[in-house]
Amino acid sequence: MTPLPLSDRKVLLIVGGGIAAYKALELVRLIRKAGGAVRVILTQAAAEFVTPLSLAALSGHPVRQGLFLPDEETTMGHIELSRWADLVVVAPATASLIARAANGLADDLASTTLIATDKRVLWAPAMNVRMWEHPAVKANMARLRGFSGFHAAAVVGPDDGEMACGEYGPGRLAEPPAILQAIVDLIGGERRLEGRRAVITAGPTFEPIDPVRGLTNRSSGKQGYAIARALADQGCEVTLVSGPTALAAPAGVRRIDVETALEMKAAVEAALPADIAVLSAAVADWRVDTIAGGKIKKGPGGPPTLDLIENPDILKGVAAPGPQRPSLVIGFAAETGNLEANARAKLSRKGCDWIVGNDVSEDVFGSDGNAVTLVTADGAESWPRQSKVEIARALVARIVEHLKEDR
Ligand code: C5P
Repeated sequence: MTPLPLSDRKVLLIVGGGIAAYKALELVRLIRKAGGAVRVILTQAAAEFVTPLSLAALSGHPVRQGLFLPDEETTMGHIELSRWADLVVVAPATASLIARAANGLADDLASTTLIATDKRVLWAPAMNVRMWEHPAVKANMARLRGFSGFHAAAVVGPDDGEMACGEYGPGRLAEPPAILQAIVDLIGGERRLEGRRAVITAGPTFEPIDPVRGLTNRSSGKQGYAIARALADQGCEVTLVSGPTALAAPAGVRRIDVETALEMKAAVEAALPADIAVLSAAVADWRVDTIAGGKIKKGPGGPPTLDLIENPDILKGVAAPGPQRPSLVIGFAAETGNLEANARAKLSRKGCDWIVGNDVSEDVFGSDGNAVTLVTADGAESWPRQSKVEIARALVARIVEHLKEDR
């Protein structure tokens, strides 16, 4: 199944008050048809042109209208809402909304959200041609475009044409398909791994001792899941072999749940051939030789002795030369010291192409952040602490580059 251009992407649509607000209905429909989720903020003026009910019905979510409405705020606070989205879209963007955002005013839900968000904002202006050409509006637009980094405004339209007021010129809201295209250009996946296959392992393994107990570890799986998601975002066909975690399968990823290292190994082998293998799971080094059939009881004999045997090294097996070997095999090294040296030693011991080393003496397990060192045959690079999602995206960008050279 080919993923849709906005599958799993989230858009926060701010509808300003202008006659073109009716086109927001069509835009919401198009975003959803492209696979995106959309939540809507309606300014007070916009509610004079379109009803919250129609936007709620089309978006599938209640429409937000105020800063001080307890029902709305307790469902999702405005700060959370401003962070929820991958992109904020203002359509139609009125002269007033543009002016308030350009000057940092936060006097209603829409303007406050525009200042609070940590995501890019796409502006689709719509107003009378005289208003659009007014130096104040021009200056405000220039100011919005000139902000640095992600604060820099992206703009679509306005189009030239006849206006509702009977005048002619630039100021018409860009047509909804053009706004959709601008959204896809900004946050739609580039799908640079279309036609590629990847197998990922993530999470801990659980090695049973008896029917109720087992050996496991503190891996949350977050980093591996983020990598699976980032690969899928690029159109890669991803099989995620996961030990027990509390995480939901990322959209568009085929997840296979396993418990033990032996199950993980079988699932990975079944997922081959693949172009890419990222084995991030914290596989138990040992398993109990003979799993007790019934619950082991406390007794006069004292505590039981567990005979452990070594688990197979899944990474080493996948990286071994052969027709099934993926062209890029990436392993992980969780270390508590000498990160680079240990990671480099692991690279040659396992026969993989890259090792992502992370210092687990820092706050890593279960955390949303991570700091890693990428070790390849070409050298080692330390990446500063950032979110696991950002690390995943950066790693996938490197994978894309590598496979391009490989072709
Ligand atoms: O040897 P060590 O466990 O430190 O190696 C870590 C790397 O090897 C990780 O990529 C991990 O997923 C992989 N591994 C494996 N099978 C094992 C042990 C580790 O795939 N039995």
